[in-house]
Amino acid sequence: MYKHLQERYAPRPPVNIATLVKMKSEGEKITCITAYDASFATLVDDAGVDVVLVGDSLGMVIQGHDTTVPVTLSDIIYHCRAVVRGLYRPFLLADMPFMTYASKEQALDNAVRLMQEGGAKMVKLEGGAGQVDIVEFLASHDIAVCAHLGLKPQSVHKVGGFRVQGREEAAAEQMMRDAKALQGAGADIVLLECIPAKLGAEITMALEVPVIGIGAGAQTDGQILVLYDILDVTSGRKPKFSKNFMTGNASPLEAVKAYAQAVKSGTYPGPEHCF
Ligand code: KIV
Repeated sequence: MYKHLQERYAPRPPVNIATLVKMKSEGEKITCITAYDASFATLVDDAGVDVVLVGDSLGMVIQGHDTTVPVTLSDIIYHCRAVVRGLYRPFLLADMPFMTYASKEQALDNAVRLMQEGGAKMVKLEGGAGQVDIVEFLASHDIAVCAHLGLKPQSVHKVGGFRVQGREEAAAEQMMRDAKALQGAGADIVLLECIPAKLGAEITMALEVPVIGIGAGAQTDGQILVLYDILDVTSGRKPKFSKNFMTGNASPLEAVKAYAQAVKSGTYPGPEHCF
């Protein structure tokens, strides 16, 4: 994918975890998006996005499943290998699929595969207090980890649907405790999905590590959305927090640029995207 040419002319060096921590401390919003192939990876890189996630959302938007549960480690590795060829500047984050981190040893083996075979720089796993030991084990092996809290799509069958989390006081307090425990265990980033904006702001204030939100309000350190949602490719009802950036933009590249600029300037998410 002409990566050597991109490197030669790249005006800004590749993003790493230190870049993201600096952005948090300087109040610069972090822009993140999903990608699943090399062409879109190049496009989102050109659009100026900071972090790219090969998310298990690919189970729904690429494979056509109803949930992310059927996605396998091999699926994520396959898509990571494609995405990494298209990226120069963004930091590459990969999802650990359902049941690929049920024990510390399994989590380590699979995180290593995502990094060595897929080219991921950080792995993301869903979970609260129950995942603290696993995050600690990965961190003790110098693996960068993003802990995903709030709505955890891999738990959809246990929870009974995709719905806003942390609305009740006790649940909000538990999420705050979990976020702090995961940071204490060595999580480098916390991702919050589908929670009240007030709770998103409180957790972001309480943590030193960068906090990325999706439907978690405007005060998180950064935002992430599913690429196909912002390009209006996904059919059916879109989540409230999502926005179609193709409106008013002539091409996918312009739409992703508009998303990145809206996150940086704080115009996305608006009140209509928040809980
Ligand atoms: O799988 C995914 O794309 C995700 C984002 C929605 C955060 O986890």
